[in-house]
Amino acid sequence: MASSHLPRHFLSMTDIREAEARAIFEQVAHQKRGGVQGGGSDLPLQGQVWALLFRKPSTRTRISFELAVRQLGGSALFLSAAELQISRGEPMGDTARVLGRMVQGAIIRTFAQEEIDTFARSSGIPTVNALTDQEHPCQVLADIFTFEEKRGPLSGKIVAFLGDASCNVARSWALAASLFRFQLRFGAPRAFFCDVENPWIVQSESADEAVRGADLLYTDVWISMGREEESALREKAFAPYQLNRSLLRRAKADALVLHCLPAYRG
Ligand code: NVA
Repeated sequence: MASSHLPRHFLSMTDIREAEARAIFEQVAHQKRGGVQGGGSDLPLQGQVWALLFRKPSTRTRISFELAVRQLGGSALFLSAAELQISRGEPMGDTARVLGRMVQGAIIRTFAQEEIDTFARSSGIPTVNALTDQEHPCQVLADIFTFEEKRGPLSGKIVAFLGDASCNVARSWALAASLFRFQLRFGAPRAFFCDVENPWIVQSESADEAVRGADLLYTDVWISMGREEESALREKAFAPYQLNRSLLRRAKADALVLHCLPAYRG
């Protein structure tokens, strides 16, 4: 892509400031008011092709990004990594250099955060994190938008995250806590505590303590993609952190429950 300025990436929640997130929320609200096809006149991706390069399964993230690119005037090119040469060992940097000459932006779901960092650096095109092992920042921005749409500003509220506090979604919540200034309480086994530390986070092994008086209850799968070999250990470890009716009763009466999905009942 011939461009005189450096591309802007969204690889981590740390790549964004609160004011920028708020501007995105305003734009989203505007698009929603305009109906499913968006505001009509806002087509910033007109004439552009954006690649979706996915190394892990996806339902909601893939569909929403593909539709978003189209609704913003661009074309989406879905690339399953299993059918690309990276599945046969081609380095991510090489794939990135090729794509960078052919498409105008990339949305990537992969394993290690370093892979998406490499892609962004080597491709020279705007790159968006659609989930890595370390983060899922778009998911958490969408969750915060949803909470605020229904309950008003999240700042000063209490969010309880139950289960795997070491997972990608939990890390993005942890980074979002200092950005949006809400209290984040993790209820998780110590071995699965979050590795992010900031003054907005409290970690506890007690699910009860975590949810007491919370405005928002959040949970995620116990076995994230790529962790299937640890299934037995994780099912045992996270059983006391299952989000169920008795735990919900300890939260605020009007607490919202969110889950990034897929959800496994029982
Ligand atoms: N932590 C989950 C999120 C799924 C959207 C995973 O990585 O599988």
